Amino acid sequence: PLTTTGELVARAAAHRSAVASFNIITLEHVEAVVAGAESVNAPVVLQVSENAVRFRHGRLLPLARAAVAAAEQAGVPVALHLDHVRSDALLRQAPDAGFGSVMYDAARLPYADNLAATRAAVDWAHAQGLWIEAELGEIGGKDGQGALDAHAPGARTDPAQARAFVADSGVDALAVAIGTTHAMTTRTATLDHGLLKRLTAALDVPLVLHGSSGLPDDELAAAVTGGITKVNVGTALNLAMTGAIRQFLTDHPEAVDSRSYLTAGRDAMTRAVAEIIRTLGPVPAA
Ligand code: G3H
Ligand code: ZN
Repeated sequence: PLTTTGELVARAAAHRSAVASFNIITLEHVEAVVAGAESVNAPVVLQVSENAVRFRHGRLLPLARAAVAAAEQAGVPVALHLDHVRSDALLRQAPDAGFGSVMYDAARLPYADNLAATRAAVDWAHAQGLWIEAELGEIGGKDGQGALDAHAPGARTDPAQARAFVADSGVDALAVAIGTTHAMTTRTATLDHGLLKRLTAALDVPLVLHGSSGLPDDELAAAVTGGITKVNVGTALNLAMTGAIRQFLTDHPEAVDSRSYLTAGRDAMTRAVAEIIRTLGPVPAA
């Protein structure tokens, strides 16, 4: 059934676990995330990023409607989340498209501008009954920007500043920069565990980890132990899908029916989803 991110994050926090949130791009992503979550009997979040909407010719509804239907028919609770939103026009489509939560991303702006923009987004979101996440510090690697080094001073989230940001903006959750970078295709990132400890001590809102594909299993598990309650994963599914399709087409150069290689891609994503949820420690489905 369809539920909300706020509900799943609260349940994760109560069980000292983290809810896995997967970025969906195609219908195969939607089906794989739901099937993978069902296979380990855990709730899950389907998230659509502004970049994914851009890929879908700027239209949110076709993928959103498919995700809502998949959530309603799923055997586990499934929430819909709009991810990395910078456009106000897109933000305002969230409630009607079936999203119970949004991540508003003004992290690239100077602190005062990030705070002002986030505060306005929070006021609007709360009036709509939406749960809203924002980002402070900067988790690099979006839009192939690549250059931002996750280890550069200033890119990390400062605990005292984060405390003020949460209090002054009213956000429901905070995405923190603690060592990950978006779009990593190797699992070689390391977390700043001391910083995570200081952040959990300083803040009383749920903390969200982005760029989680770059972390090895032990670091993913340590993030949850350290207090992260929402873990965003995108690239790991693309790696699984693209790798399986590439292998299938190499093995079957005569293949024509798109269902043949999409099945291989979807199956690989389903396995990846189940494995990541197992690593995080599944949140009980009820
Ligand atoms: O918001 C989305 C996540 O941060 C995904 O990051 O593609 O590096 O796993 P990733
Ligand atoms: Zn992200």
